[in-house]
Amino acid sequence: MEPWSRRSASRRSVLAVPGSSTKMLDKARGLDADALFMDLEDAVAPIAKPEARRNIVAALNEGGYGSKLVTVRVNDWTTPWTHLDVIEVVGGAGDRLDCIMLPKTQTREQVIALDMLLTQLEQVHGLPSGAIGIEVQIENALGLTNVNAIAAASDRLETIIFGPADFMASINMKSLVVGQQPPGYDVGDAYHHILMSILMAARAHDRLAIDGPYLAIRDDDGFRQVAARSAALGFDGKWVLHPDQIAAANEVFAPRQEDFDHAELILEAYDHATSTQGGARGAVMLGDEMIDEASRKMALVISAKGRAAGLVRTSVFEIPAP
Ligand code: GLV
Ligand code: MG
Repeated sequence: MEPWSRRSASRRSVLAVPGSSTKMLDKARGLDADALFMDLEDAVAPIAKPEARRNIVAALNEGGYGSKLVTVRVNDWTTPWTHLDVIEVVGGAGDRLDCIMLPKTQTREQVIALDMLLTQLEQVHGLPSGAIGIEVQIENALGLTNVNAIAAASDRLETIIFGPADFMASINMKSLVVGQQPPGYDVGDAYHHILMSILMAARAHDRLAIDGPYLAIRDDDGFRQVAARSAALGFDGKWVLHPDQIAAANEVFAPRQEDFDHAELILEAYDHATSTQGGARGAVMLGDEMIDEASRKMALVISAKGRAAGLVRTSVFEIPAP
């Protein structure tokens, strides 16, 4: 997909696929996730990494992932693997790839280093300059402290992702249940500051904000509850670790049909109201509701998310009698 069209594509569900499993790389083709990432990092044992790189290149070249956004998660810059991950995957199948995901991102320089490596590889392999996007994971205190600088570090940056498992470990949170509130913390949401900081950095720099995994894959209610929280804040999507989580993520991160219809109605009604024909008014009533420019901006967000999720409007705007 072209970088400009990726910006408006839906990323409600982002499926994690271990690069070491040819079976799962294969199965992912037929699943209904908006996006997927082929993993070279924590789902792959150190000695299996070279083979996982080859599996990923072969799977990408075989194709068949349809309209899904396809990303490869490389290892982070503190390991010995990052450069070879990127060189081999982009060298082997760079034209089949949407983005590279950089885990445990801690500084803007780490994003710039990846950007420069991608620029050289695009030149060497005759790929359009800037074609490959970057996704960063924020997974520790230093990364969160620098999240604004990270968000601004490269034009390639498309998404900022919360990595709760590594984050919990890195700050010594007293819980092993990823996604759940830590036992003993009974005064609100222990992740609120982290989620909001990521979301603010994403919005300030026009990136997408993606929530991370929920590890209890059989707990559908728990997944929906946690997903609904980040969706309510404004996050654009969430990781799914199992095919059974896909439908829930697609549902939770898409606007409800009635909200989508209402947003479209606001846009049309406001467009009409501000026109000469509609009286060139900046604030008008729509039913019992006062709408103005701020309402239009909120409606634009819901409308864009709904369209990206494939919703079709079911209501009609009738021009009010003068
Ligand atoms: C994901 O990478 C996480 O650490 O939660
Ligand atoms: Mg992680």
